[in-house]
Amino acid sequence: MNLSPDPGGTLRVPPAGHFRLPPLALYVHIPWCVRKCPYCDFNSHAAGPELPEEAYVDALLADLRTDLAAVHGRELVSIFFGGGTPSLFSARALDRLLAGMNRRIAFARDIEITLEANPGTFEQAKFADYRRLGINRLSIGVQSFQTAQLQALGRIHDGLEAIRAAEMARRAGFDNVNLDLMHGLPGQDVAGALADLRQAIALAPTHLSWYQLTLEPNTVFWNQPPETPEDDLLWDIQEAGQALLAAEGFVQYETSAYARDGRRARHNLNYWTFGDFLGLGAGAHAKLSDPHGQIRRTWKTRLPKDYLDPDKRFQAGERLLEAAELPFEFMMNALRLTGGVPAELFEQRTGLPLAAIAEPCAAARAAGLLENDPQLLRPTARGQLFLNDLLQHFLP
Ligand SMILES: C[S@@+](CC[C@H](N)C(=O)[O-])C[C@H]1O[C@@H](n2cnc3c(N)ncnc32)[C@H](O)[C@@H]1O
Ligand code: SF4
Repeated sequence: MNLSPDPGGTLRVPPAGHFRLPPLALYVHIPWCVRKCPYCDFNSHAAGPELPEEAYVDALLADLRTDLAAVHGRELVSIFFGGGTPSLFSARALDRLLAGMNRRIAFARDIEITLEANPGTFEQAKFADYRRLGINRLSIGVQSFQTAQLQALGRIHDGLEAIRAAEMARRAGFDNVNLDLMHGLPGQDVAGALADLRQAIALAPTHLSWYQLTLEPNTVFWNQPPETPEDDLLWDIQEAGQALLAAEGFVQYETSAYARDGRRARHNLNYWTFGDFLGLGAGAHAKLSDPHGQIRRTWKTRLPKDYLDPDKRFQAGERLLEAAELPFEFMMNALRLTGGVPAELFEQRTGLPLAAIAEPCAAARAAGLLENDPQLLRPTARGQLFLNDLLQHFLP
């Protein structure tokens, strides 16, 4: 393939040949929570007495206007309202936001629209209103059903409220519901982790995100670490949980994601298949390709007060990805998928020929980390377990 350097030294990939403009998704960041959880390093801030939701919706729509040139005639395949705590926003504000977005970008007929909802921040009527707006998937942040655990995690809800949240979602007409759970919690044993999973399964979600608690820099837990399970116990919890989920018909398709048939999260799948996404809101990131195969990462002003300041620009930075870093960028996403991706997707998304990764693929295969199928880029069971080792092979 013919690659020609641009003045900045970046390799340009001609549009002809392998590259195809990927599907386009939209992430909307809502940066406020009732209070900050001690383990959380997301861009989330304790809300004051008044949530500036109208001003924020105005800012999001103005922000979208500045991003329209990156759409290139595509329709949105998914929208994800993440946070922070998007369920702090009223249905009225989200209605104005969705209508404003739809005036500027076409929505795919079968668009998936997800909203993250926290127990303790909504009531039945709000859920029903969300559903009427066209939001068709809820992701409820449960974390655990055990009240002592929830207290240790600094959550504002107890186990019963978490159960009620899932029941309310169903009553409001949501038939596609994810529950977020964490494991490896302070003082947790295998029985405790399985009890959380069993309670979650009893609520009949279509999807479960089961994350191992990590201690992140710049959090309260980082500075005052709680006693979390030793590695051996973490391993036992992981194995027992995976076995239970499999027996209950939840297929693991990504490191932490489990779904019933046909209910994999389309928005997240778009990330993992190196699709494009716009990012609106404080600190939101985006990955955008142009028809010539140039790929950019961009990010927005991080602090909500700066994002709301009319004198500040929304975009805080951008970086053009160089051809040399595309293999790692692609693999870092694709190899999280337990089933991997078709090899040709590498060519379509990056514009590079498969020959560009022939060597690292051969080395990863020889190390038993990548499956031996030339049509497929798929981690072996060992590769899933040692994903960082596998990814090392694709570093520039
Ligand atoms: C964007 S966050 C927050 C969603 C929502 N505000 C909530 O708290 O329920 C999405 C999920 O990431 C997970 N998470 C956040 N911090 C984590 C950490 N330090 N370790 C593991 N999982 C974490 C939690 O399960 C959380 O529900
Ligand atoms: S509610 Fe969610 S986003 Fe907000 S601080 Fe807690 S974990 Fe982070």
